[in-house]
Amino acid sequence: MSQEFNLPGMPKIASGKVREIFDAGEYAVIVATDRISAFDCILQDPIPGKGQVLNQLSAYWFGKFSEVPNHFLSTSLRDFPVGFQAFAELLAGRSMLVRKARPLPVECVIRGYLAGSGWKEYETSGTVGGHRLPPGLKLASALSQPLFTPSTKAQNGHDEPISWTQFRDLVGPRLAEPMREASLTLFERGREFARDRGIIVADTKFEFGLLDDELLLIDECLTPDSSRFWPAASYQPGSSPASFDKQFVRDYLESTNWNKKPPAPHLPREVIEKTSQKYQEALIRLTGYPLASNP
Ligand SMILES: Nc1ncnc2c1ncn2[C@@H]1O[C@H](COP(=O)(O)OP(=O)(O)OP(=O)(O)O)[C@@H](O)[C@H]1O
Ligand SMILES: [Mg+2]
Repeated sequence: MSQEFNLPGMPKIASGKVREIFDAGEYAVIVATDRISAFDCILQDPIPGKGQVLNQLSAYWFGKFSEVPNHFLSTSLRDFPVGFQAFAELLAGRSMLVRKARPLPVECVIRGYLAGSGWKEYETSGTVGGHRLPPGLKLASALSQPLFTPSTKAQNGHDEPISWTQFRDLVGPRLAEPMREASLTLFERGREFARDRGIIVADTKFEFGLLDDELLLIDECLTPDSSRFWPAASYQPGSSPASFDKQFVRDYLESTNWNKKPPAPHLPREVIEKTSQKYQEALIRLTGYPLASNP
């Protein structure tokens, strides 16, 4: 993996495409790096400030939407176990103390608009996640109601869409409905809130884990990495909306001849800078504060 992130002496529980998770005894410390992935591949260039944006935005939503139990404990270094204090510079702004959970092997995707793989499926079969939709919808059209379109969480490679039955078989009948309901609730709350700030949340995905028997929202929440954010002002069904998320990077990569296998091509400097600005703009719009002033 390019752009490694280590804290010497601190054992890692997991290393994802973007986040690193360190063991903190009863808890865990999640560090959001500046790595960016697109098409399930980590790109070679970091996006400055991205990790802080993801961390601070997730912390903001976890605090706001506490009616769905989540893993968040603190972003304040003084609450972290003492061994982490020595790494203040590396951790500042991009780390979170969380409750350690056993991640469930699925992604709970919610779609409110037609975009990405949902749009591709609609174009070929008139369905999204197997749900039949009315004809005549355009790219970026709003759906009459949000759809739950879960996928697998692949250890390596691409996440695959799964049916409701496959989803229920993977997580078990006790958890399936609560996970779907929590995902829809969070999406509705988040998009209502974002709408007032001029942002359309087109779609998003959530991850859940189990701590003993308790279902917890884990990982990240309503960030430009896990969601498609579109500025409401320039929204126009029928065209790819100018977005606050990595759609910008995806569009660039689609314009190259890259075969979607690692290594991905380097990003031009303008794309890196523009993406960094986009992430920060999303944070400011949603929380009201720029990076430096966010807790
Ligand atoms: N509270 C938690 N307890 C345990 N594991 C967690 C917790 N929150 C997140 N994780 C796991 O940490 C990892 C976060 O890393 P990241 O989001 O970068 O990975 P990813 O790109 O989603 O997927 P992958 O892990 O497959 O690369 C995920 O595997 C996620 O399931
Ligand atoms: Mg993740």
